[in-house]
Amino acid sequence: MIPAMDWKNEVFLLLDQRLLPNQVVYRECRTWNEVAEAIKEMVVRGAPAIGIAAAFGVALAALRAGAPGRIIPEIERAISGLRSTRPTARNLFWALERMEKIAKTSGAAPADLPPLLLDEARKILAEDIEANRRIGEFGNQVVPDPARILTHCNAGALATGGFGTALGVIRAAAASGKKIQVIADETRPLFQGARLTAWELKEEGLPVKVITDGAAGFFLSRREIDLIIVGADRISANGDTANKIGTYSLAVLAQAHQVPFYVAAPTSTIDLSLARGDLIPIEERPAGEVESWAGERIVPTGVPVGNPAFDVTPARLITAIITERGVVRPPLEEGIRRLF
Ligand code: MRU
Repeated sequence: MIPAMDWKNEVFLLLDQRLLPNQVVYRECRTWNEVAEAIKEMVVRGAPAIGIAAAFGVALAALRAGAPGRIIPEIERAISGLRSTRPTARNLFWALERMEKIAKTSGAAPADLPPLLLDEARKILAEDIEANRRIGEFGNQVVPDPARILTHCNAGALATGGFGTALGVIRAAAASGKKIQVIADETRPLFQGARLTAWELKEEGLPVKVITDGAAGFFLSRREIDLIIVGADRISANGDTANKIGTYSLAVLAQAHQVPFYVAAPTSTIDLSLARGDLIPIEERPAGEVESWAGERIVPTGVPVGNPAFDVTPARLITAIITERGVVRPPLEEGIRRLF
């Protein structure tokens, strides 16, 4: 598994996910601003990976601040700058809250903060990988053998510290000897399914077939899909789940065809401060992502375009949420409360 990120010689490296599957190139980040740019431009994407990258961004801010008197103001600037990169992924805010807590409540002198913050970022990364492995173990219990599994976007090693959430379940199921066939939605407009999910699974020799987003209903109607599993960007206290645009349509289709619909996510994606999914901020992305394809304009000039990056699947359409602390079944609100 090629890591989506790395830390070497005081430089934070991010695998440029915009260039996959054709080029494997790491972008070097030496400052928190470079990390913030990388998150905005989607060099790194996927809720847990965004959170981890932001944590390393704060560590870089402390490390490069210069005089001890500048360390705290630099950390504060970095936290506020990184917070404004992408609005939907709960993990971004969760990771920044952890970093802020170290900076503000550790009692360390400013000059001692850089190594402490770097340790915390490393911890967030290691804990995420461990959480994914546990999600994989719990999730494997709901996967039949054989299983044809539809997934959307990329909730894999690239979108996390490693191993993946939805793809972590698929990896664990395959590793336990089950016969797994993955069907990956291409995932318009940025093709995270076609480019990233297919690349990750192919690298590992796991069978994967890419379909267009609009084809999912056809495959479900032919009974060629046994279950759907997706990741999450933010889950509200009642279990409503924001994930890549198109997820909600899949959940409706799953219900119509009586196929289980699972969400796999670490507890760091759950936002207990929001009672319902309609309170989750949804990112609107540039129209250019939809207006053009392969450098050619495909929407007539002057025609407006809508490009929400995420939608919200109501809890009532979700069979279970698979977390590192266990599988939460309906009523989701009650089950989520018990997790904490
Ligand atoms: O816009 P992206 O590519 O950051 O969106 C990613 C997703 O929607 C993923 O499904 C989600 O973050 C879960 S990743 C484990």
